[in-house]
Amino acid sequence: MSITDKLKDFMISGPQYEDGDRKAQVIAVCSQKGGVGKTTSTVNLSASLAYFHQRRVLVIDLDPQGHVEKSLGAIVKDGVEYTPLSQVLEAKKGNIMDAVVKTEIEGFDITPGDKALVQSESILGSRIGKEIILSNALKTAKTHYDFIILDCPPSLGNLTLNGLVAADCVLVPCEMSVLAFEGVTDLLDTLREVKERLNPPLDVLGVVFTRVDGRNVTMNNLILENMKRFFSGKIFKSHITINTAINKAQLEGRPVFDFAPSSSGSLNYQSLASEVMQRLKSHLAVVPSESDRRKAN
Ligand SMILES: Nc1ncnc2c1ncn2[C@@H]1O[C@H](COP(=O)(O)OP(=O)(O)OP(=O)(O)O)[C@@H](O)[C@H]1O
Ligand SMILES: [Mg+2]
Repeated sequence: MSITDKLKDFMISGPQYEDGDRKAQVIAVCSQKGGVGKTTSTVNLSASLAYFHQRRVLVIDLDPQGHVEKSLGAIVKDGVEYTPLSQVLEAKKGNIMDAVVKTEIEGFDITPGDKALVQSESILGSRIGKEIILSNALKTAKTHYDFIILDCPPSLGNLTLNGLVAADCVLVPCEMSVLAFEGVTDLLDTLREVKERLNPPLDVLGVVFTRVDGRNVTMNNLILENMKRFFSGKIFKSHITINTAINKAQLEGRPVFDFAPSSSGSLNYQSLASEVMQRLKSHLAVVPSESDRRKAN
């Protein structure tokens, strides 16, 4: 690295941001098993919190696959300048606000997909304080949003670790299968270690069953009973059943409630959003009602 490049690291670049009046709850959507519905749940839960509960929500796509942006392609606003997430994380004083783009849903923003996050995994690994890079980069954003939801990759690398250290709580999507069950118990060991060494307040927000096939009654009940032993009181009542509207909405690049409002996928995620609101209500700032807002203007 040249001296000029090194100096640039210490210069404050990009726009400066004032602090906002919010105090975000940071939720890491995490499972070490692939394909269990992390991204689908991140996208549809977040959009539901913004649209039905008028919350300011930022989704950060920590997965180099970039599936968040693909799942919301039709509603992400084009032509907005932003800094790719990998560059924000690799900079000395990166600010997530530089990586944010808006969607057509009021108060619902995302960080676009960034394939260069693959390299960030190893670049971050060589940094001092490598686990707290995201947490530091989130400081301003936490004052501008009610929820910051992290879509984690399906592996326990530096990006997921940064997610777990930055998070207040973890949402665990789980399929009703024996293998998925084992994946969740592995995750518990990881969470225990992160809590002990790096982020003591980290809590499990809840486990949500995804891609549930209501016909497999016996297997579903077996998995449910076993999960209750590990996560007593933490299992969401809302289950996400298998629903083709969810796949179709993703192909169209829209949240499922926007694509097929009365589909089971849409209703399941709305119900999950209400449960999340309920569980976190004591942590959330009071949002002024529409009439209060009009009075203030
Ligand atoms: N309830 C559902 N009904 C039907 N299909 C679903 C449902 N939930 C997820 N899917 C589909 O399952 C596939 C995997 O889902 P998703 O990408 O959300 O998983 P993931 O855990 O994020 O995967 P990865 O580990 O690769 O990041 C996607 O094609 C998605 O459309
Ligand atoms: Mg994913």
